[in-house]
Amino acid sequence: MAANTDHAPQPRAKRDMFSSRNIFILAAIGSAVGLGNIWRFPYVAYDNGGGAFIIPYLIALLCAGLPLLLFDYAIGHRYGGSAPLSFARVQKWMESVGWWQVLVCVIIGIYYAVIVAWALMYTIFSFNKAWESNAEGPGAFLFGDFLQLGDVGVSFDFVPGVLIPHALVWVAVFVIIALGVKRGIAAANIVFLPLLMIMFLALVVQSLFLPGAADGLNALFTPDWGALANPGVWAAAVGQIFFSLSIGFGIMVTYSSYLKRRSDLAGSGAVVGFANSSFEILAGIGVFAALGFMANAAGTGVEDVAGAGIGLAFVAFPTIISQAPFGELIGVLFFGSLLFAGLTSMISIIEVVVAGVRDKLNLTRLQATIAVVVPMAIISLLLFPTASGLYVLDVLDEFVNKFGILAGALVSVIGVAWVARRIPTLSRHLTSVSSIPAGRWWQILISVVVPLALTGILVSEVVTKISEPYGGGDYPTWFLGVFGWGMSALLVVLGIVLAMLPWPKAIRTTFDEQAADDEIRAVMEGWTDDKSPADPDSNPKYDLKETDA
Ligand code: ALA
Repeated sequence: MAANTDHAPQPRAKRDMFSSRNIFILAAIGSAVGLGNIWRFPYVAYDNGGGAFIIPYLIALLCAGLPLLLFDYAIGHRYGGSAPLSFARVQKWMESVGWWQVLVCVIIGIYYAVIVAWALMYTIFSFNKAWESNAEGPGAFLFGDFLQLGDVGVSFDFVPGVLIPHALVWVAVFVIIALGVKRGIAAANIVFLPLLMIMFLALVVQSLFLPGAADGLNALFTPDWGALANPGVWAAAVGQIFFSLSIGFGIMVTYSSYLKRRSDLAGSGAVVGFANSSFEILAGIGVFAALGFMANAAGTGVEDVAGAGIGLAFVAFPTIISQAPFGELIGVLFFGSLLFAGLTSMISIIEVVVAGVRDKLNLTRLQATIAVVVPMAIISLLLFPTASGLYVLDVLDEFVNKFGILAGALVSVIGVAWVARRIPTLSRHLTSVSSIPAGRWWQILISVVVPLALTGILVSEVVTKISEPYGGGDYPTWFLGVFGWGMSALLVVLGIVLAMLPWPKAIRTTFDEQAADDEIRAVMEGWTDDKSPADPDSNPKYDLKETDA
């Protein structure tokens, strides 16, 4: 591209972009469908009213999840930057909210990697049912032989069997992100997502044919209507939707900033939202059919075998694999699905951090990838493949979900809606590029319903966490103080500090709303072509340098 250095205070690397809306949808589904769908949803649904959970879940999806998904899309697409840059362009102080979301991704990213590494190892273990080497069963194998779990605390007794696959996961993430949006992120999703879908469908079909499958489905879908009166059930529904849809922590802001102007945002949001929930319900069916088989084989009720998170995936499933016909196949399909689903989500989480650092320091993609992935990998490798890693992971996950994602989402919505007062602007933006108008219904949901619901949930979470410390006494106070409360507060403080650092000259943090409206109109009415990504910095009067687009 011809250089026009007269106008360029500093050259800025050209912004990456997705080649089409369909590829964006694929990447957004890849991000959404993750560990949250496969191992979190089935148990959350079962534990919060079973069949009755579908009501708060659907209400949370329609009234909070989809509106916030469109909010994130609109911010990224209109303001055209990473989360910190996009929010800074809404209003200067909001840059700190963007950094807060980036930091939430740092925390989630460092523990997500080790779970993906466990999934990788268990895919391999499934071929010869390695856990059968421990006569005391898969639980003893997991905690004793594989994780070599010690006491609660911080230990640096590394466990090589976890450390090596964990390092490999970081290498894979590094390579994919360094390759850029098209050749890395999009390509990885094009390969992994179809594989995941085929493998998971095969798993569900195989599970449904197991003896006892119907008991599992009955347990999952039998409604406990009384649960609807419990506010905790509603909080669980909203928490599940946010984590699972990848909203409120910068991911969708980042991904939608790689879209062309002419991109049906609301239509894409509807596809992504319903695809994610369909996968989630499919996961519930597959997992509970398998648990029904397990209960049947053990002669107990499904309630005795249904466990949460790690227990469900890494203890119950190995038991099922050992007992079921063609168990090895179930193992490879289940853990392989977990691996691919985890990897595509992990990429999106790390991309939030890479994009933020890249914008703030005006780095090339490779420089930003090195600056972000290397230190994150080191912290992750120091904390998790150790004898105490599981405890740290459990506390970080619990607190960052509640006081990172939900609180960060709340502040971003209040800031945009009530301080910067940009909801009518965003509504206009969404409507002008979308097939479904985001009119008054969206404005009311995002500026009134979502903040009220999030405030209610957060207040009740704080009260619960103070009156009944997390873990039911398993964790000492200092441990919850450091990895729970301390980490939650640190993210806010660091977010404010990072927002105080100056931007390089080449990056415009101011934003001309009128010019953006004019440009959108010109593109939508076909007056100008739509070759540029949604980035005000890619204005042709600047010297653009091709890097990895
Ligand atoms: N949305 C991702 C998941 O469900 C983060 O795991």
